[in-house]
Amino acid sequence: MQQGAAGEGEAAAQGRPDVPRRKNGLYPQVSDALHELMASGWADTELRGLEPVAQAPYAARRRAALSARFPGERLVVPAGNRKVRANDTDYPFRAATEYVHLTGDQTFDAVLVLEPLADGGHEAVLYLPERSSRSNGEFWLDGDKGELWTGRRHSLAEAEQLYGMPCRDIRTAPDALEQATGPVRVVRGYDESVEAALHDKVTAERDEELTVFLSELRLVKDEFEIGELQKACDATARGFEDVVKVLDKAQATSERYLEGTFFLRARVEGNDVGYGSICAAGEHATIMHWVRNDGPVRDGELLLLDAGVETETLYTADVTRTLPINGRFTPLQRRIYDAVHEAQEAGIRAVKPGAAYRDFHDVAQRVLAERLVEWGLLEGPVDRVVELGLQRRFSLAGTGHMLGLDVHDCAKARTEAYVDCVLEPGMVLTVEPGLYFQADDLLVPAEYRGIGVRIEDDILVTEDGNRNLSAALPRTSRDVEAWMAELRG
Ligand code: GLY
Ligand code: MN
Ligand code: MN
Repeated sequence: MQQGAAGEGEAAAQGRPDVPRRKNGLYPQVSDALHELMASGWADTELRGLEPVAQAPYAARRRAALSARFPGERLVVPAGNRKVRANDTDYPFRAATEYVHLTGDQTFDAVLVLEPLADGGHEAVLYLPERSSRSNGEFWLDGDKGELWTGRRHSLAEAEQLYGMPCRDIRTAPDALEQATGPVRVVRGYDESVEAALHDKVTAERDEELTVFLSELRLVKDEFEIGELQKACDATARGFEDVVKVLDKAQATSERYLEGTFFLRARVEGNDVGYGSICAAGEHATIMHWVRNDGPVRDGELLLLDAGVETETLYTADVTRTLPINGRFTPLQRRIYDAVHEAQEAGIRAVKPGAAYRDFHDVAQRVLAERLVEWGLLEGPVDRVVELGLQRRFSLAGTGHMLGLDVHDCAKARTEAYVDCVLEPGMVLTVEPGLYFQADDLLVPAEYRGIGVRIEDDILVTEDGNRNLSAALPRTSRDVEAWMAELRG
């Protein structure tokens, strides 16, 4: 909790202008004797000889690509600020994707600036919160940022070793940005104070070009990123196993138990979940974004679990399995499941270098349309259904998306660079067809209503095809049953 140690009065600190304010705007009241006592007697904890973080060389290459795209321009990429939850408590901080990708760092309030050099290229400078001073008391009097309350930060010298860039105190950034001349662009939406310092120097259109470029820079993953995504998928597979093992307990409680179980794995093996887990039992499985996770878990129904562990470096998996809660699919559940699996297999086969991004979506949707016509739920011919997109009544969403630091990665990329692109080695995308029969859908027989099935895997485009990063989890209905039986003993 961010509570200062001192009282609430203003008087004592008024004659001491270097004493920082607390988050609530008041100066803490402390005696001179206490101030002096707190200022001395602390060990030197400076860390020396630090190795660069593993991402450092990769982040440097990404910055080089950014530099080449915007020669002669100052480029400003904020990490973002904490968001207040209530009063002096905040939501967990999650650094801006663009900043993480270009630095490997995750410090709140930080800003990366690419300063254009006279001879071409840029110098990357990292503005970071400096360690809090012991001598002026800010380390304990500042309840918002003082390290006594919030934990030790890296010194600027330490950060230089870790991230391979010159580091400066963030408190110098507003003046530096306001005084800078020449063309500037900023990634918007993360740090109002940075945007305010630049407001008369930037335009929305030019800033958007920077954001779009950085989104497209993430379309092809490097080997570090692929390794992190594999780690995320492996931890996610273990999280799914955890959930299967507690299905009986969840029946006695609710979907909440499953969400908490997966979160434990995400927090122990990674940083967090990469998005709100969808723990959707029974008819909740037909709701694409079911994150309330407060419903019952019942024998005989399906559980649609869509969840992903985010690594400590913030790369996330995005995996879905649809599981029979009692371990055995009913004949109708199996028929629907097998059709979705068939669609997913066709989709995954279409993921290869040189293929159009749209191919895996098109082939998977066609399989679903064929089955829906075969079952009499849509009137054929299949070509007409596909042409008019009628299967979408039951398949609802697109069949996948790019994956990386964001679950829906590269979302600002241009249509021609993403949706209309040709797949390249290093791209990672989800293939996630589904069929969803709403509980109140009068166009389908009653026994279909309330059944939702999605199967989602994370697929890396390789030189000669693809690799399923989430293949550790079973996908056929028989394999799912056997896996569940083994885990539940
Ligand atoms: N979990 C979000 C998605 O599958 O896109
Ligand atoms: Mn998903
Ligand atoms: Mn997805």
